[in-house]
Amino acid sequence: MDEDFDTVMVEFDDETGVGTVTMNRPDALNALNGQLRDDIVAGLRRLEAENEAAEGVALRAVVLEGAGEKAFCAGADVGGFSSDSAGASSEPSHYEFIREFPVPVIAKIDGYCLGGGLETALACDFRLASEGSAVGFPEVNLGIFPGAGGVQYVTKLAGPAVAKELAMTGDHISAERAADEGIINHVYADDEFEDAVDEFVTDLAGQAPLAIQAIKQSAAMAVQTGLNEGVAYDGQLFAELLQTDDHAEGAAAFGEDRDPEFQGK
Ligand code: COA
Repeated sequence: MDEDFDTVMVEFDDETGVGTVTMNRPDALNALNGQLRDDIVAGLRRLEAENEAAEGVALRAVVLEGAGEKAFCAGADVGGFSSDSAGASSEPSHYEFIREFPVPVIAKIDGYCLGGGLETALACDFRLASEGSAVGFPEVNLGIFPGAGGVQYVTKLAGPAVAKELAMTGDHISAERAADEGIINHVYADDEFEDAVDEFVTDLAGQAPLAIQAIKQSAAMAVQTGLNEGVAYDGQLFAELLQTDDHAEGAAAFGEDRDPEFQGK
């Protein structure tokens, strides 16, 4: 399945279960206008529909990337602020939609990842970057700040000093420094980037999908609640996983010394 929306391209690989959403406004460095925000959500919904005809879980992981040579996403479209300010609609924002999407979403960052582009990457489950990439929050130069939680996310990942440094200076930092600070998961040499991301994503897509989804839910709970409540929540998720066919398959495969085949059931 390949489908194009106005500002995103969507692909699904039914061998691996990996979906790809490509932000496709390369002439504007994939800056987020209202259409692109809507199309990211529409693209993810389109991928999720792959599960409807499947037995178990067809969609195992999603890669979010930017078209063109220069950017993942250069942030909010500077031309369109007043017309599509955050929170104007009752629909979930694309940030919320990614955060709550049941399947892991991997931000594949090759180039500039700035402002709302960095917040989009932070809403994803993983950030993988090429070594030439740069991240930052330039909003302060426009008299505003990252309005979709950028300071909150970076504070949780890297601490308040790094969050304030990024948001108050507006400076770009290298992917390597961002990885040292815990903002990016992995940085790869430019010539290894494509293969390394493919390998990471394909491995992730081969894991038991219901366990992966439970881990995403557990991690989301961990940042919102106290330890006792979080551990109790994990207990429920764990009890549910124990009942799944995939758990039986994983245990059988281990006993028979073969690779498991998980279906998401
Ligand atoms: N919104 C709208 N258009 C943008 C954009 C944005 N956030 N960022 C880049 N573009 C456009 C540029 O206007 C330019 O368009 P043009 O070719 O029609 O003139 C094109 O993308 C290429 O950008 P350019 O600035 O020429 O590339 P560069 O390599 O010199 O610089 C950046 C790249 C990312 C450093 C620079 O574009 C930049 O600082 N962008 C703004 C980032 C920002 O402030 N984002 C947060 C907004 S809250």
